[in-house]
Amino acid sequence: MTQTLTIARPDDWHLHLRDGAMLEAVLPESARHFARAIVMPNLVPPVVTGAQATAYRDRILEALPADMAFEPLMTLYLTENTDPQDVAAAHASGLVRAVKLYPAGATTNSASGVRDFDKVRPVLEKMADIGLPLCVHGEVTDHQIDIFDREAVFIDRVLDPIRRATPGLRVVMEHITTANGVEYVKSNPTDLGATITTHHLIINRNHILVGGIKPHYYCLPVAKREEHRLALRAAATSGDGRFFLGTDSAPHTDPNKESACGCAGCFTATNTMALLAHVFEEENALDQLEAFASKNGPGFYRLPVNTAQLTLQKHESPVTFPAKIATGEGDVTVFDPGFAVHWSVLG
Ligand code: NCD
Ligand code: ZN
Repeated sequence: MTQTLTIARPDDWHLHLRDGAMLEAVLPESARHFARAIVMPNLVPPVVTGAQATAYRDRILEALPADMAFEPLMTLYLTENTDPQDVAAAHASGLVRAVKLYPAGATTNSASGVRDFDKVRPVLEKMADIGLPLCVHGEVTDHQIDIFDREAVFIDRVLDPIRRATPGLRVVMEHITTANGVEYVKSNPTDLGATITTHHLIINRNHILVGGIKPHYYCLPVAKREEHRLALRAAATSGDGRFFLGTDSAPHTDPNKESACGCAGCFTATNTMALLAHVFEEENALDQLEAFASKNGPGFYRLPVNTAQLTLQKHESPVTFPAKIATGEGDVTVFDPGFAVHWSVLG
């Protein structure tokens, strides 16, 4: 007997679509399965103003194949010069759904991010007033702090002080990778949520480093110890409304990944839903997949759950996915989970 699972159509609450030829190639990979996505603003130059977000949204919609439906939910890149009034206007018009905080230097294209958090206080206060969520890349950039500790230290040194100083500010901890992140969300009942990526449910740091370096498993925040992966799995499959899917699917061409100084990012848009079905089945939690991928995110962002649906099917034999997708900038390798997958999306 064939097993199928039908859920409300999922959304991706953290996605990198890039621009130009790369956008054209990767957008259908997301639009095929996801109704909406929070689109990251870390272009070069970054999407800082409402006008830039409007232009970027138009380019995304232009790149969308005519037979696909997809709603990009736009974000603004927070800089020390961001104008609170511009943010408020972009939110009021329905254009912008979140503001993204990158500590300067934390990750790909974050050079224009924040160095002095006092400089963004007026924007954060305005956001708390109007209920606009702040999406946070939660890693300190201090060279003294070990890369595997950067998320935990960020929570204590930066995030908790910001939240205490800005009551009512709604925060999404993006792509959490640690049990510390899970615990911080759980211990703060209001105004806090977290996205979890597909790949952080699948790999730990051994997968990156044992038996030879695997550049396609390198992303930021970097995958941590096994105990942290297990904490993320428990959170994602718990049904707790504060945890939701943000794939952080982040395409880089193969030469940029397979290099002496490779870029950070895993490209998972193509097979994320099948991999999640595999993970949730392993955790005996297939009944929680809809909450994680389709319901908790809209709950946090105060948007309706999609009325369209998505059906997953389990197969006797393993299914295959393309190893790479071709883009106008070069090939992009699709995330390889390292195990046989028996699920696919129907249709
Ligand atoms: C992202 C990218 O490539 O833009 N990379 C990554 O490793 N996740 C940036 C980010 O989200 O940190
Ligand atoms: Zn990202």
